[in-house]
Amino acid sequence: VNTQCLEIAFNDHRSYRIYIGAGLLAGVGEQIARITQHRAACIITDTNVGPLYLEPVRTGLEEAGFTVSVLEVAAGEQSKDYTVAHELWENLARQGLHRDGLIVALGGGMVGDLAGFVASTYLRGVDCIQIPTTLLAMVDSSVGGKTAINLAAGKNLVGSFAQPLLVVVDLNTLTTLPACEWDNGLAEIAKSALLEGGQLYSWLNEYADDLRKQGKGAVQQAVVRTLAFKGRVVVADEKEAGVRECLNYGHTFAHALENVAGYGTISHGRAVAEGMRFAATLAQEAADVSEAYKIEQNTLLEALGLVEFCDYYPADDLFEAMVSDKKVRNNEMRFVFVTDPGTWKTVVVDVDLLKIHLILWAQARL
Ligand SMILES: NC(=O)c1ccc[n+]([C@@H]2O[C@H](COP(=O)([O-])OP(=O)(O)OC[C@H]3O[C@@H](n4cnc5c(N)ncnc54)[C@H](O)[C@@H]3O)[C@@H](O)[C@H]2O)c1
Repeated sequence: VNTQCLEIAFNDHRSYRIYIGAGLLAGVGEQIARITQHRAACIITDTNVGPLYLEPVRTGLEEAGFTVSVLEVAAGEQSKDYTVAHELWENLARQGLHRDGLIVALGGGMVGDLAGFVASTYLRGVDCIQIPTTLLAMVDSSVGGKTAINLAAGKNLVGSFAQPLLVVVDLNTLTTLPACEWDNGLAEIAKSALLEGGQLYSWLNEYADDLRKQGKGAVQQAVVRTLAFKGRVVVADEKEAGVRECLNYGHTFAHALENVAGYGTISHGRAVAEGMRFAATLAQEAADVSEAYKIEQNTLLEALGLVEFCDYYPADDLFEAMVSDKKVRNNEMRFVFVTDPGTWKTVVVDVDLLKIHLILWAQARL
């Protein structure tokens, strides 16, 4: 497979490149050396990804003339925490990483968000290179510049917007990705296709089966096409003041479901897929969305293996989770609804209608 390159170019002439291909890890050092004068790098990774993929990245950086250090954090969402960020800041300072150093985030979305946040705050900001190793990070979190850590009050409540200097997607790293992690990326690919419509949507309908079976060509195409879509959204609205909000499709219900089930019980991808199903049903009443659209959407989700969620959770608990997510204001709640592939809008939904739909959802699972 050939390496492909996308460019994210903002109107104020800032831009960065994304390389997507197989076997790119060893060449990352050389690639970074081409775009920056800096020659000190700290690789931040986690305890699962480090043992698998650190060596080629470290060696490549050293061969390209970098002084390299490594910081490894425990794998898992609990590392997206200020105590871990603090440890990383202290270690960077102890190692003497200066403003002419850079951070290389090697891992999934957890590492990307944490290392991106640390990079954007350490010395008021040093450059960060993203090397995503999960499908979710490849199609979503590594691009767009959102960085974050979690608080007890909720996920991603402290963070920054800081675009990476470069993103390198090595598809070979997916060979070790646990099967349960694929759904997270597939759900974001489906969401992107539903929002974008057009070629991405028709391509995904044609290749959903190949993608579900992890066919290499299909995976590369999915990453390239989904990132191209995300890039367009991010360029149009870097700091989520407008259209970027569409990326929340399915996520309102998903967050409530993950919260009620207990984080980690349900994969984020399954929850997002269920959230899109819930949104399409609610939208029939709240936004005149057609039954035909709902069927079309749900058929695509199934083709990707994102089958309907059958476990019961009480409607009251789901509603409470939505309220505590601070998404309910003045007895109303804003939802992103896709009305047809490629067309979406935000709709303010009355909480009574929302409650009825949560009850219907729950009752169908009793
Ligand atoms: N910044 C954004 O725009 C954005 C968007 C979506 C999600 N996110 C964030 O991303 C995070 C979730 O990311 P994720 O799903 O990648 O989870 P993750 O980074 O926790 O990775 C999932 C698991 O897979 C392991 N892993 C990673 N790559 C591997 C590989 N190649 N082989 C074997 N194991 C591997 C990890 O160690 C971890 O155990 C959340 O914190 C979420 O908030 C951020």
